[in-house]
Amino acid sequence: MNHPTHVPILPGLEELWDEAGAIWDRLHERGEFFNFVASDYRAVYQTLAGLQGQAETVLEWGSGLGVVAIMAAQLGFDAYGIEIEPKLIELADGLARRHNAQVEFALGSYVPGDYELDTELVDADFRTSLDDAPAYDSLDMELRDFDVVFVYPWPNERALHQDIMRQCGGPHSLFVTFDVREGLAVERLGNGR
Ligand SMILES: C[S@@+](CC[C@H](N)C(=O)[O-])C[C@H]1O[C@@H](n2cnc3c(N)ncnc32)[C@H](O)[C@@H]1O
Repeated sequence: MNHPTHVPILPGLEELWDEAGAIWDRLHERGEFFNFVASDYRAVYQTLAGLQGQAETVLEWGSGLGVVAIMAAQLGFDAYGIEIEPKLIELADGLARRHNAQVEFALGSYVPGDYELDTELVDADFRTSLDDAPAYDSLDMELRDFDVVFVYPWPNERALHQDIMRQCGGPHSLFVTFDVREGLAVERLGNGR
């Protein structure tokens, strides 16, 4: 399922992307957070805009600076982000405040506690943290409650993320993934067990 939409850019979005880009440059100059790499915000924006009217809640897994969740809030979705790095949560909160976006960012893991890990999906080069406490309780939500889940996975982690959605996602949840080579994909994988 792909959504090749071309909607006008909301006022202030270019400034949001520029500010996030400047923060990202600063972090990388200092050698911080090499696991944080930004997705193509312009393309993600178009995909989210194409989902307006079909969904209410959007969750950004591994939200980093939270730009996807912020764009979702600005498009009128109830927006959430889960991130493992406290400093990135702080930066995302500041960015959301400055851009007047109502987003709930939670510190912890997006891997639900009841997910049964298939070790064949994990290799030595893995960057998703698999050992940290899940963040869903602090949002008072479960993964299956979200209408849209967005993630920008490392290429070798896509199968793990799909497996998490298959086991723990809601039957109607839309799973949106960004890939540098393949662009954006929208799939429905959950089973709502
Ligand atoms: C490739 S970056 C994507 C950032 C942002 N979503 C974007 O699209 O621009 C992946 C982020 O996931 C975070 N992360 C890795 N494992 C995580 C986990 N189990 N739970 C929450 N965040 C995690 C990293 O700290 C990093 O900020």
